[in-house]
Amino acid sequence: MIIASSILSADMSNLRSEIEMLNGSITDWVHFDIMDGVFVPNLSFGFPILKAVRKHTNKPLDVHLMMVQPERYLEQFCAAGADILTVQYEACTHLHRTLEQIKQLGMKAGVALNPHTPVSALEEVATTLDMVLIMSVNPGFGGQAFIENSYDKISRTRELLLRKKSRAIIEVDGGVTLTNALQIKAAGADVLVVGNTIFSAPNPQEVIALLASV
Ligand code: DX5
Ligand code: ZN
Repeated sequence: MIIASSILSADMSNLRSEIEMLNGSITDWVHFDIMDGVFVPNLSFGFPILKAVRKHTNKPLDVHLMMVQPERYLEQFCAAGADILTVQYEACTHLHRTLEQIKQLGMKAGVALNPHTPVSALEEVATTLDMVLIMSVNPGFGGQAFIENSYDKISRTRELLLRKKSRAIIEVDGGVTLTNALQIKAAGADVLVVGNTIFSAPNPQEVIALLASV
């Protein structure tokens, strides 16, 4: 299981040591939830935090753009150190072009689907994208409850990718815990984004190891 630790739930007043904790853990990626206060009713962080973290970890930076018109900032996120850049389907008028631009910049291109967006939205871009991010909560906040019908949505996403002969992987984001991780994997997920379950734990590195072993 690939684990993408979401720093949305990290102690921002202690970010350097939180990154050192992740460096000493077996987390595969560091997940950044970039929120603009328009696409989602919250503001999180941007380029300064991304550049600061880039300087202190070699782990891939998995950047999730919860913003309108993300195509405005593709070069800047690349320059700030993003390895994987995921845009929200619902925020992109020209999604195919945006995905191609992300890949031309040398990053992996992801598309995130909000809970209400059907899997069929991926039909025409299934072979263009590198990753599908299934939002298992309504985006905007960490620490929410996993939306139960996400299991079926993950399985239907896997079916669509297989049918379209896509090599894309499936990432799941929101409400992932030690209790539901195995069922999420069984449904077809390759990557788990985990924030609150990790950063609220007395021993985060142990939780990451347990999640990775499902
Ligand atoms: C939602 C965010 C969160 C975060 C993970 O907008 O994308 O899902 O990454 O949150 P937890 O693991 O705390 O539910
Ligand atoms: Zn996210």
